[in-house]
Amino acid sequence: MQTIKNLNARYAIANHVSFKESDGLMVAEIDNAHATASICLQGAHLMTWTPKGQQPVIWLSPAAKLAPGKSIRGGVPVCWPWFGPHATQSNFPGHGFARTVMWEVIGTRALKDGATWLAFRLVPTEATRAQWPHSCELVLQVAIGTTLDMDLGTLNTGSTPITIGDALHAYFAVSDIAQVAIHGLGGAPYIDKVNGSAQKQQAGPVSIDQEVDRIYYNTGRDCLIEDPAWKRRIRIAKLGSRSTVVWNPWVEKANKMGDLGEDGYHHMVCVESTNAADDVMTIAPQQEHHLWVRYAVEAF
Ligand code: BG6
Repeated sequence: MQTIKNLNARYAIANHVSFKESDGLMVAEIDNAHATASICLQGAHLMTWTPKGQQPVIWLSPAAKLAPGKSIRGGVPVCWPWFGPHATQSNFPGHGFARTVMWEVIGTRALKDGATWLAFRLVPTEATRAQWPHSCELVLQVAIGTTLDMDLGTLNTGSTPITIGDALHAYFAVSDIAQVAIHGLGGAPYIDKVNGSAQKQQAGPVSIDQEVDRIYYNTGRDCLIEDPAWKRRIRIAKLGSRSTVVWNPWVEKANKMGDLGEDGYHHMVCVESTNAADDVMTIAPQQEHHLWVRYAVEAF
């Protein structure tokens, strides 16, 4: 059983990581030479990442609620083992259960370059087994440094193939959504979820001036969130993902959500590295699948 006391005894590292309680949940607080960050053990949910001397790169809603069994609005929710609604069971949670159940810390390390590495493993429960009756292990590795690297690894420990959908559903902080352009998706086909799931094709960069909810296919290239007012670009590199979701709820939907903050939609955009819709992964027995991302900030 993990408690703050024994987590600190076993995994705290001076000038890198310590563990605290926040609203009844356990949180890893990272503060190293390069950045600060926080990761909630519920969901292994990275909530914040701010490179030193910069604006936050990962956006956490000012109205985010930390509560047992509830997903946190903002950060990088881990969606697994399905993305979006479950294919057949409408009462199963959207985006899977990984983001709302407990994970355990299985390692922390100070890396040579000054970054902090942490690893978490999902703890299966009766409820998760009822929704996902397969033998497998899910591990999230995170490196907090000048870049933020995340690796979500699914190991099939059973004797039959498993098929998963997953996502690192990152919420990025932007100065003003109206001024932002997202590059790297030009030419990609997409499903437009706010337009009856119409099939479309992206022409040029993505700009957002209304609700946007799209699943882009064949997206292996880096995405760049260009933010002239903050004079920076956020670069999103990824492996193990052939689809990308771009989402901003805009005003009306944000108002209904209740945890996005008054003008939260104005300061965030989700660019999610996914295996979504048809882009699911089948993992053979004893094989693993890794969804890997690197987020970096470049001057612009
Ligand atoms: C996006 C979906 O990935 O997540 C949207 O494409 C959804 O349709 C959004 O609204 C937020 O989902 P949730 O479950 O965190 O409110």
